[in-house]
Amino acid sequence: MNIFILLITIIITIIKCVSAQNYNEEECISVNKLLQKDQSYNCCQSVYISCSNDGHVTDIYFKGDSLNSIPPEIGNLTNLKTIYTRGDTLIGSLPSELGNLANLEYLHLAGKLNGNIPPELGNLSNLEELNLADNHLSGPIPLELGNLKQLKILDLSYNNISGIILPELENLSNLTYLNLTRNNLMGSIPPELGNLSNLEKLDLSNNNLTGPIPPELGKLTKLKTLILSNNNLSGSIPKEVKKLNIKLHTSNNPLLKTKSNHNNINIIIIIIIPIVVFILFIISAVVYVYLKNKKNSNNCESENSIQSYSTSSQQYKTNYNNEIESDIRIKAIYL
Ligand SMILES: *[C@@H]1O[C@H](CO)[C@@H](O)[C@H](O)[C@H]1NC(C)=O
Ligand SMILES: *[C@@H]1O[C@H](CO)[C@@H](O)[C@H](O)[C@H]1NC(C)=O
Ligand SMILES: *[C@@H]1O[C@H](CO)[C@@H](O)[C@H](O)[C@H]1NC(C)=O
Ligand SMILES: *[C@@H]1O[C@H](CO)[C@@H](O)[C@H](O)[C@H]1NC(C)=O
Ligand SMILES: *[C@@H]1O[C@H](CO)[C@@H](O)[C@H](O)[C@H]1NC(C)=O
Ligand SMILES: *[C@@H]1O[C@H](CO)[C@@H](O)[C@H](O)[C@H]1NC(C)=O
Ligand SMILES: *[C@@H]1O[C@H](CO)[C@@H](O)[C@H](O)[C@H]1NC(C)=O
Ligand SMILES: *[C@@H]1O[C@H](CO)[C@@H](O)[C@H](O)[C@H]1NC(C)=O
Ligand SMILES: *[C@@H]1O[C@H](CO)[C@@H](O)[C@H](O)[C@H]1NC(C)=O
Repeated sequence: MNIFILLITIIITIIKCVSAQNYNEEECISVNKLLQKDQSYNCCQSVYISCSNDGHVTDIYFKGDSLNSIPPEIGNLTNLKTIYTRGDTLIGSLPSELGNLANLEYLHLAGKLNGNIPPELGNLSNLEELNLADNHLSGPIPLELGNLKQLKILDLSYNNISGIILPELENLSNLTYLNLTRNNLMGSIPPELGNLSNLEKLDLSNNNLTGPIPPELGKLTKLKTLILSNNNLSGSIPKEVKKLNIKLHTSNNPLLKTKSNHNNINIIIIIIIPIVVFILFIISAVVYVYLKNKKNSNNCESENSIQSYSTSSQQYKTNYNNEIESDIRIKAIYL
């Protein structure tokens, strides 16, 4: 009897659960275009999709296996928090309707997307990660991206983005990671990037950047990696940047003076060599003077001894002569 009641409650719970899997048909129609499923498909059942209890699509983790584009209707899914796609099956351009997704926190789209980055993305005020790396995007970085105050990660690497690096990026005050490698960016590195006080990794390599490395980058105290190689930067590496204890890459900037090695050599030439020469000079001077003194005193001694020898020999001679004289005198007395 008890078991019968238990079975009934279990069955009722299962039925409730299944019926609770209601879904928002309109939202699923948009998502099904991306998933390339039937219009009537309950997208909340897909392993790629998460829905809220009330049937709104909240997360899309998607890896396509045939070419498809992002439907503009995706901009109606205002509960979306995540769009994460892998692989390289996305084609077409970024719909400006993406800018309507006011709750979006992660936007990661990889594939063969082309066209410009829509300025409307600057409306995504809750966005924490914008990763459009590895596409065929072109045109400039829209200055509206400077409005993304919550952004921590901005990765636009491996595209064909042109124009300059905008000073407006300084307003991304929560940014920890900025990667713009392998684009077609030109102009100089804006000193304003030195205001991104949370930045840990900055990669601007493989562009066509000119001008000096701004000393303001030395303000980035949290920086761990700075990659500027394969550009056309000039001047020298500012001492403010050298002072940072970071991984720094600046190779293949033909006009950039990487003076750090020369400096060491200069220090050797300017300070150490004269000191060594001076010390050698002092030592040799002391030795010379010492030897010279020693030689002088030796000469004096021998001259004296010769003198004394000769005086004594003279004395001897005089003595001898005296003896002879006295001898003669004695003989004379006897005679
Ligand atoms: C959904 O998006 C499309 C294109 O962006 C638009 O024309 C349509 O009115 C939207 N539907 C609703 C219900 O908001
Ligand atoms: C979104 O951004 C565009 C262009 O940046 C702007 O014209 C528009 O007013 C914004 N829409 C909203 C709802 O903030
Ligand atoms: C940076 O992020 C924190 C939360 O991680 C947030 O409270 C803060 O408002 C953000 N800063 C800005 C300037 O928006
Ligand atoms: C990149 O963009 C430039 C114009 O800015 C264009 O001339 C060039 O063909 C593009 N390259 C690729 C690989 O799309
Ligand atoms: C950054 O934001 C502030 C305030 O929102 C604004 O006054 C300033 O002009 C912005 N910086 C740039 C370079 O746009
Ligand atoms: C940002 O950087 C510029 C140039 O380095 C500087 O003049 C400005 O005061 C900085 N702004 C803020 C808010 O730190
Ligand atoms: C920047 O992105 C490229 C390719 O996406 C990657 O190889 C490189 O390591 C990144 N740079 C940093 C500093 O993480
Ligand atoms: C780099 O920029 C300079 C001028 O700023 C231009 O003359 C040169 O053609 C550019 N190089 C490439 C590879 O785009
Ligand atoms: C580097 O810059 C100089 C001067 O602006 C320019 O003449 C030269 O073509 C540039 N080199 C490359 C590879 O872009």
